[in-house]
Amino acid sequence: MSPPPGDERKLIIAEPLIYFVEMVISAVRSLLGRPSLAHSVRKEGLTYLRPDKMKRIEQALRSVAGVPGDFLEFGVALGGSAIVIAAQAEGRHFHGFDVFEMIPPPTSDKDDVKSKERFEVIRSGQASGIAGETYYGYRPDLLGDVKAAFARHGLPVDGRSRFLHKGLFEATWPEVAIERVAFAHLDCDWYDPVRFCLEAVADRLSPGGLLVIDDYHAYGGCRTAVDEFLGERADFAFENGPNPILRKN
Ligand SMILES: C[S@@+](CC[C@H](N)C(=O)[O-])C[C@H]1O[C@@H](n2cnc3c(N)ncnc32)[C@H](O)[C@@H]1O
Repeated sequence: MSPPPGDERKLIIAEPLIYFVEMVISAVRSLLGRPSLAHSVRKEGLTYLRPDKMKRIEQALRSVAGVPGDFLEFGVALGGSAIVIAAQAEGRHFHGFDVFEMIPPPTSDKDDVKSKERFEVIRSGQASGIAGETYYGYRPDLLGDVKAAFARHGLPVDGRSRFLHKGLFEATWPEVAIERVAFAHLDCDWYDPVRFCLEAVADRLSPGGLLVIDDYHAYGGCRTAVDEFLGERADFAFENGPNPILRKN
């Protein structure tokens, strides 16, 4: 169920304009000494997300204001996008899921060559981190670093409203009691984890709830997982963009 070409054309024209305006607003805020949280986490090297993707997440979070359920992220890494999501979770729970160590390999034959080459760089110890820092997957206590970053931003991981679950999604998800979801950010690169997360969350997502998919245009396995899912689930609509959104009807 790919987006119709007409919609895609409108998106190509409208979205850069929206992002440009928002980027200008963000720059002005920054000049006035009031940088947005998204700007701050980026400046601190806590996220791989481009500003346009982060803006889409912020817009998506605003648009689920009246939708019941928790906010989730699958693929936290250094915590940048998780902090932005958790900050908007007021009155809801935030759950972040990650191995908090080196990313698991892309093992499906539906993963593309690019995914496998990227993983080989990581496995060989040659991956470089953001702005010359140690690559997150090589850090000795990534979970501790992420908790410290949350605390610095006034969002302690308290185990009451904010939770970080360390381990493979396949292992941690069944252990966590989450009844309803309003928003989930899927930022986990390869076919198997994306497919797993889509299936895990789909039936717990409230009507009007959103899934934001980070890697649809970056890795073939992620794209295949999403396309297969959409082919099976007529109750989800696809909204294209730098990080496409799946909206539950
Ligand atoms: C691209 S990073 C996330 C980036 C982050 N959202 C940001 O703001 O920069 C992808 C993360 O997904 C995690 N991940 C991928 N597959 C996983 C799995 N099966 N179980 C747990 N974590 C996984 C990796 O370890 C990695 O930390």
